[in-house]
Amino acid sequence: MTRRLLSTRRATALLLLICYVGSSMGSAHFSDLKRTLIVTASPKPGQVLYAGEDKITVTWKLNSSLPAGTDAAYKKVKVKLCYAPVSQKDRGWRKTDDNLKKDKTCQFKVTTQPYAGSGSFVYTIDRTVPTATYFVRAYVVDASDTELAYGQTTDAKKSTNLFDIVGITGRHASLDIAAGCFSAFSVVALLFFFVMEKRKAKK
Ligand SMILES: *[C@@H]1O[C@H](CO)[C@@H](O)[C@H](O)[C@H]1NC(C)=O
Repeated sequence: MTRRLLSTRRATALLLLICYVGSSMGSAHFSDLKRTLIVTASPKPGQVLYAGEDKITVTWKLNSSLPAGTDAAYKKVKVKLCYAPVSQKDRGWRKTDDNLKKDKTCQFKVTTQPYAGSGSFVYTIDRTVPTATYFVRAYVVDASDTELAYGQTTDAKKSTNLFDIVGITGRHASLDIAAGCFSAFSVVALLFFFVMEKRKAKK
């Protein structure tokens, strides 16, 4: 009886181990990737863009000073919009994880294109992109969709050359605030004139 329990436990442990190894296999880690792409995006540092309206032109190219054959296994380029650290603070759902399968830094797809050394794309900011500070990153993946290298519009610390996007809901919130202010103002104005009229009447 105890023997059987023990072997069940062992089997479970083995199964868990296999699952763990299996799940971490084939998932690239950001710290292992080389920065081989040079990526640029049209927004100027600190520029404010509006979701659903404004466009971003992204270009990417292989750094030409790298040895020939660097990109031999590159199959596709995946360009993404990524949260800057300032917009990740206290927000677990945007957290950076070195394991790219768990990483939540780059949640918005800009485009996926076959790799051809260089390319560019004009992206209209999706209406679902929330108000935050962003940069652009491009990953190159191999035939099995595993990330091999990257490039981004900011520095390694993700602190330079960032831009802001104002989301649709953010805009509605500020509109609501404006509307609220106007209606509060009109109530006050109404009261003011009402009191003035009464005073006049008394005189
Ligand atoms: C291109 O690669 C070289 C060698 O790795 C590096 O020194 C240089 O900074 C890179 N250039 C850019 C613009 O990233």
